[in-house]
Parts: sequence; structure tokens; C-alpha cells
Amino acid sequence: MNTIVVFASGSGSNFQAIIDAIENETLDAQIAGLISSKKQIQAIQRAKKSGIPVRVINPSDYRNPEEFGIALLRQLHLWNPFLIVLAGYTVKVPDQVISEYRNQIINIHPSLLPKFGGRGYFGKKVHKAVLEAGEKISGCSVHFVDENYDEGPIIAQRQVPVLEEDTPDSLAERILDEEHKLLPEVIARLLSESDN
Ligand code: GRF
Repeated sequence: MNTIVVFASGSGSNFQAIIDAIENETLDAQIAGLISSKKQIQAIQRAKKSGIPVRVINPSDYRNPEEFGIALLRQLHLWNPFLIVLAGYTVKVPDQVISEYRNQIINIHPSLLPKFGGRGYFGKKVHKAVLEAGEKISGCSVHFVDENYDEGPIIAQRQVPVLEEDTPDSLAERILDEEHKLLPEVIARLLSESDN
């Protein structure tokens, strides 16, 4: 089974890109569910609209990362995904989840890693730093998730030109368009390469 579980913390436009790719049959996968790190995010509305089960598992409801990890694993064991996709998930995945699903968790990041990755590089901060550094090219990366933020092996990247007149918002928007193509493509490739 090509079962995936998506983790999200925000607007969920990458989650939507996965839903759309499944609907238009460019991606052969089933989304078992969405794990959201908080209530009332747009990603949850998107899941509901498409009939995808949602579980809110908020790290601040747990005493420590280990207990948070146990809650995540309990839900993952029920859904039994082959692949976990972090799509705008802003929480550190606990180590026991990473070790149980080693090389089965991927993340999308809005820069050409290893540049502009790691702790503190999220959202608009990434694009602001790219502009301040005078980069001529930026883009997005999909990588396997390991114990260190944004450091796992890179699976695929897509480049986007940085324009003279770019603001963090305009650059983010241009990169997001590429993210929406790259993420479903990578998922399709990983699922087709597997024997699951
Ligand atoms: C994307 O830029 C993604 O690369 C980063 O967070 C953003 C999420 O956007 N990890 P969305 O929630 O998918 O719209």
C-alpha cells in the first residue's frame, strides 16, 4: 500500500498539492491522515474538505519530547504509513519517531540546502536571509529527516532565480510554486522505488 501520513502546522498548501496530485492521478498514494501540531490551522480545513482524518497532537500538551513521541507513534501505528511527509511542520520530530521511521520521513524546505537551513531558518526568515546574502539563485529542497534540523540527506532540489526587485514575500511565493510541484514528484518517486 502506498500509504502516507502528512504532518503540518500551518496553511497546508503543500498538503493541498499532495491531495491534488492524488486526485488528478499523477500520484498513486493514499493519505491515511493528517497530524497537526495545533488546532485551527488551514491544513485541517483542507483535510476535512477532502475527507482525510485529522489528529491534533500538540507538543505543549505533553511533559517532554519522549511523551510527545509516544503519542505520535501510537497514532502512526494505527495508520501504518510507508512514508511520513512533513509539509510545513514547525515542530521537532522526537528522536524515537525518527529512529523507528528512518529514511521514511521527508521534509520540504524553502531553500537550497545546506544553505539557509537549520534552527531559526523557517518561514520568511529563510527568504530574508537569502536576499540579505545577495544570492542570485534560491529554491527548495526535499530531504530525509534525521535528528538534526534540515541536515538529513537531500533527495531533490529545484532552483528559482532571485530577482533584483524581490521581497521575502515575492521570493517565497515563487519558491512555493516549485514546492507544490517538487513534493508530489518526490513522493511518487519514493513510493514507486519501494517494494511496498
Ligand atoms: C513551505 O515553504 C515549506 O517549505 C516550509 O513551510 C512552508 C509551508 O507552507 N517547510 P504550507 O503550509 O505548505 O503552505
